[in-house]
Amino acid sequence: MELRLKERLGRKFNEEIRFFKGWIDGPKQVGAILPTSSVTAKRMASVINTGSGLPVLELGPGTGIITKAILKHGVRPEELVSVEYSTDFYQHLLKAFPGVNFINGDAFDLDRTLGNLKDTTFDSVISAIPLLSFPMERRIALLEDLLDRMPAGRPMMQITYGPISPIIANPDRYKIKHYDFVMRNIPPAQLWTYTRP
Ligand SMILES: C[S@@+](CC[C@H](N)C(=O)[O-])C[C@H]1O[C@@H](n2cnc3c(N)ncnc32)[C@H](O)[C@@H]1O
Repeated sequence: MELRLKERLGRKFNEEIRFFKGWIDGPKQVGAILPTSSVTAKRMASVINTGSGLPVLELGPGTGIITKAILKHGVRPEELVSVEYSTDFYQHLLKAFPGVNFINGDAFDLDRTLGNLKDTTFDSVISAIPLLSFPMERRIALLEDLLDRMPAGRPMMQITYGPISPIIANPDRYKIKHYDFVMRNIPPAQLWTYTRP
């Protein structure tokens, strides 16, 4: 087998093992059975405006597949702030993506988690937090918090596996858009964006 293909397969296998270990440690927190596909990750990163001059906030990077797509989209590592709850994933991410501002903390407690970055305005938020594992009030509170950290009209992009938006509608507060349905993901993924009107 060609060496590069062997290396790629080895890396993918390592990512899946790491993901599976995270899943055993906290299935509700991981919330998926396999890492996100690179096709999905690319679609998620496509909403980022690299010309805005603002940093990007990523939530729940896990093995880093979406992180990689964000960097590939043109975001410089130092312009990416990425919050991961699992210390095991966090340690791996620090080594895999030098320069990215990884924070080992809770996305539902952002003021504390972001520390001295808490007053930062972000261009957009790319989230793989398993929202369906949390009660609806907490999902809404997280969204409201995130929308307050971006200019009006900029999106919070969320991946989910259910057929409907993981956050209920409230047109006076935010606009919901079904962004994409990605078949090349296991299981097939739904992408939603949320913006302030
Ligand atoms: C569905 S996985 C996403 C994995 C990633 N897209 C990948 O393919 O490797 C969800 C991720 O969100 C993280 N997570 C769950 N709850 C969190 C929280 N409250 N704050 C930050 N990260 C959280 C999990 O540890 C896990 O890495």
